Amino acid sequence: MSDHKSSRLSGFYAKPLRERLAVVSEWADLDEQETRALFDGLTLEQADHMVENAVGLFALPLGIGVNLLINGRDYLAPMVVEEPSVIAAVGNAARLARAGGGFQAGSTTSVMIGQVQLLDVPDLAAAATAVTDAAAALGERIDTLLSSMAARGGGFRGVEVRPLPHTPAGPMLIVHLLIDCVDAMGANVVNTAAEAAAPLLETLTGGRANLRILSNLTDRRRAWATCTIPVSAFTTGAVSGHTVAKGIAEANAFAWADPYRAATHNKGIMNGIDPIAVATGNDWRAIEAGAHAYAARDGQYRSLTDWRLVDGEAALFGRIELPLAVGIVGGATRVHPTAQTALKILGVATARELAEVMAAVGLAQNLGALRALAAEGIQRGHMALHARQAALAAGVPPDQVEHVAALVVAEKNVKASRAAEIWAALRGESQ
Ligand code: MEV
Repeated sequence: MSDHKSSRLSGFYAKPLRERLAVVSEWADLDEQETRALFDGLTLEQADHMVENAVGLFALPLGIGVNLLINGRDYLAPMVVEEPSVIAAVGNAARLARAGGGFQAGSTTSVMIGQVQLLDVPDLAAAATAVTDAAAALGERIDTLLSSMAARGGGFRGVEVRPLPHTPAGPMLIVHLLIDCVDAMGANVVNTAAEAAAPLLETLTGGRANLRILSNLTDRRRAWATCTIPVSAFTTGAVSGHTVAKGIAEANAFAWADPYRAATHNKGIMNGIDPIAVATGNDWRAIEAGAHAYAARDGQYRSLTDWRLVDGEAALFGRIELPLAVGIVGGATRVHPTAQTALKILGVATARELAEVMAAVGLAQNLGALRALAAEGIQRGHMALHARQAALAAGVPPDQVEHVAALVVAEKNVKASRAAEIWAALRGESQ
């Protein structure tokens, strides 16, 4: 496997696409079929079994986030995303993090929450005690139902009660069933458990069950990542590394204090996390919902990261923590051939390891964005990438895209219409 290989792929971006494909295929030991799944994956027949009313497929670019060193191990991150500069930013930030030994990451166990809503409960306090006292009986019922999950080391982990005395629909008791889903995302398992437990909960509380569904605020299933980078690594041209690192810490403080900035800051984090979720067939809407709800857990929506100067301002320390309910078995992960190849490239053995990689990539993405914003203004970095898109949109042939893009950037006029004019002029010259 890829344990001994370095993900520090210098000059990877400059290689032609097919050479990059060959590098990744060799790095991850992909066979021909697995490699093929990177550009010729899901079939119409498979799509037809996945969703209703299927009539086609929608393609997006799949790129590789390079240079990732997490818990001393090298990873290549397959990322499916339409936005330019996202994948480049991960590679650049991960290279910076290597100057401080890469990322350290960790995670909780894969405990999900199933919610049962109980209404018309005669006595909320008595009902809450009755449910708590019946934890063993609930556990037995759920573990019998989910015997294969229990056999894989997961299953029932406890019950919690949340009385809500004041809601627009009157008082209600919410019961949380905690279930370790191990390597599955677990939505189906948790929903099944909540449905199965509802009749017993009705008996215990004298109430009427309404909703029985998982919570996407999976705050029992979190992953985190940290890095500590010498400020010297941030030196760019005339700007000192200390100035850039301080600017990153100040940017983080802005997002901590201001929800308007936090939304953009966290969007940048999700620029790293969602593309891996998509590549591995995971439910990125669930991840988004959990991340943003968690960001508002103290009543104000805040940044999911923390960046601060440490070691007498000689180093920048960064940390992220967020709910990450992801699986490596079941669902689209199992049926989508590209997701299978993406998981093989990642080489993760457990869902927790996948969540840890995603947390580290989220932190890297945030670092890349804040560094660019603090150091040079993001627009400059974006311009070259947008220029390439403009040239492609203008119908410039792929082997001429770089050339035309460089010309529109030099003119500071990054528009498809200008790229088309330049290309028409160039063509006129060569004929
Ligand atoms: C763009 O997709 C993401 C950024 O706006 C994130 C940020 O501002 O931190 C660059």
